[in-house]
Amino acid sequence: MSQVLVASNRGPVSYALDRDGALTAKRGGGGLVSGLSSIGGRALWVCAALGEGDREAVRREPSRLAAEDTGGQPVRMLDIPLEVFSDAYNGIANSVLWFVHHMLYQTPFEPVFDAGFESRWRHYERYNAAFADALAEEAAEGATVLVQDYHLTLVPGLLRERRPDLRIGHFSHTPWAPPDYYRLLPDSTAAAVLEGVLGADRAAFLTRRWARTFADCCAEVLGAEVRTGAKGELLIEHAGRSTRIGVHGLGADADFLRERSRRPDVDERTAALREQIGGEGRRTIVRVDRTELSKNIVRGLHAFRRLLDDCPQWRERVVHLAFAYPSRQDLEVYRAYTDEVSAVAQEVNDRYGTASWTPVVLHVQDDFARSLAAYRLADVALVNPIRDGMNLVAKEVPVVSDEGVALVLSREAGACAELGADALVVNPYDIGGTARALDAALRMPDDERAARTARLAAAATALPPQRWFLDQLEALEGRPAD
Ligand code: F6P
Repeated sequence: MSQVLVASNRGPVSYALDRDGALTAKRGGGGLVSGLSSIGGRALWVCAALGEGDREAVRREPSRLAAEDTGGQPVRMLDIPLEVFSDAYNGIANSVLWFVHHMLYQTPFEPVFDAGFESRWRHYERYNAAFADALAEEAAEGATVLVQDYHLTLVPGLLRERRPDLRIGHFSHTPWAPPDYYRLLPDSTAAAVLEGVLGADRAAFLTRRWARTFADCCAEVLGAEVRTGAKGELLIEHAGRSTRIGVHGLGADADFLRERSRRPDVDERTAALREQIGGEGRRTIVRVDRTELSKNIVRGLHAFRRLLDDCPQWRERVVHLAFAYPSRQDLEVYRAYTDEVSAVAQEVNDRYGTASWTPVVLHVQDDFARSLAAYRLADVALVNPIRDGMNLVAKEVPVVSDEGVALVLSREAGACAELGADALVVNPYDIGGTARALDAALRMPDDERAARTARLAAAATALPPQRWFLDQLEALEGRPAD
């Protein structure tokens, strides 16, 4: 059984440093953490130290973090020089690659490929090289390495140069831009990212659509040959090598969610939210997102306002619970968006609120138990991203819902490929269309809503994180992984 290494920017644990110098560990959630639990101690997770707490933890334990902090998962955190990390994470990954794949550039946030970009790109290369060096050092002969996401696109290629004996996979958790948009990137950057990913034996995506756009970019930018292999998998031939392309649609973790959402802290928050919603029989439209431009929160609020404008019967009768948790606040464009979300929510409340009704209840402080409480209560879930690799909220709400939920879902979310048949599908730019879908969702008969929720939950849990992870290993290792 070969050793497995996982590499990602954000690891399964993060540390907070208090004034007395004490470190408190907080374990992360997400599909990878659940997925890895299925292979026990066979894996090593290599990640970056993100904040001051993480850096201090690495200084104290430079080789491995304490197993009790990480839930038994061996972790090596890389203390990459701050400027290098910041340029790679903020300056390239979240300002350039994220914007390209989510097709977010628009005035006044336009692409700028100047000398500053070139210097940040060199740091992105150094940050990727630091991961490749650590993986090359840690990997046993013939080990399997699973590299995650747009932060680490160069790692597969760099690692192959250092360790040709390894089996290397890359997984993209974002969409992949179509060629015309991808080619906004300077030519050398566009080629370097694709060639980096093609350094893997297998590159995998959340949906067929993103796999296809990646292949199209390889063909157009690199002149690579795209073929369909014997098992129907896409194969990309470039520079004398062949990379297999896979698709694994990460699902919700039903066992975890059902157990977690029935705990007392969630019950308490459910009661508190009911109080905030107020009004006998009032309906709820719920959204839960990181406050991030691709999530399209502002247009969602405009659609809610349009619902109140056009359908006066809903005034006083519906509350929009909008949980918008701050994200990537080192970047001005994300901070400005966070402010805009609050301002628009306030505008709606100023226009329509009454002494006994607050139309939009906006919460910005991250609280997973409260999110689960909102999932339980939701009559309608609004998931309207401009573009999204998958969107797990769309998959989690139907699983947790107490009495059935109508899902209003963007056609641009990866999840739409699996859930579209039972969701009310919207164009995320179309505010009027989204408002009409909200109205239809609120008016959906109870029996129809219950039947759709059952089918949504079944589709959403078809590939739970443990299976999602093992499928990738099996495909990469060419045999069943156990
Ligand atoms: O969607 C890509 C992704 O890496 C997710 O896997 C994750 O939830 C999100 O971005 C987190 O971003 P950050 O680490 O910048 O908070």
